[in-house]
Amino acid sequence: MNLGVLISGRGSNMEALADACADPSFPAEITVVLSNVADAPGLSLARERGLSTEVVDHARHGSRDAFEEEVVARLRAHDVEAVCLAGFMRLLGPGLLAAFPGRVLNIHPSLLPCFPGLHAHEQALEYGVRFSGCTVHFVTEEMDAGPIVLQAAVPVEQGDTAETLSARILEQEHRIYPESVRLLAEGRLDVRGRRVEIRDGRGDRPGASSEQPTP
Ligand code: GRF
Repeated sequence: MNLGVLISGRGSNMEALADACADPSFPAEITVVLSNVADAPGLSLARERGLSTEVVDHARHGSRDAFEEEVVARLRAHDVEAVCLAGFMRLLGPGLLAAFPGRVLNIHPSLLPCFPGLHAHEQALEYGVRFSGCTVHFVTEEMDAGPIVLQAAVPVEQGDTAETLSARILEQEHRIYPESVRLLAEGRLDVRGRRVEIRDGRGDRPGASSEQPTP
């Protein structure tokens, strides 16, 4: 399955996906890394890996629809079949979702539906939860609200800051995003309303939609 990875910044999840795709047995490959930010550090990392990159600057497009149309055109030019949002800081609308129906994933650094939107780590610390984590979900028009593919829980420790919590969660992001892409590429995800059923190969937990971090 050909992947387009959309980033706006650091690109560590893009790198985790690229590492997974480097394994010949992994059922997907990245055909383009696209950013709305020309100097996103992740773009340089992608180029260093020899990946194709594209920049579509939202500020140069008059409307969200026009921006999105251009994003879709560039993705199609790279034969993209599924899209992974990885720290992509623009809301996407019906254009991209219609172009890749059921094939747009996002990763969010909280256990959704808790703490959607910006500053998820600060929200978790402020609320005082004992566990937070990360969620890979299908993208719908509502922000951070689509059907959940995989989640990983991470303890919040005494004295955590947004930085320390984020680092602990990021390790799990880098594990469950490639795993989710594998499931999608293998055609093992059945979306039934809000619930995602995982077919075969999940041991004795058919239909599991979440998992704990490996110790
Ligand atoms: C990650 O925490 C991801 O969950 C969120 O944005 C951050 C992107 O980090 N959506 P990176 O650019 O992948 O390093």
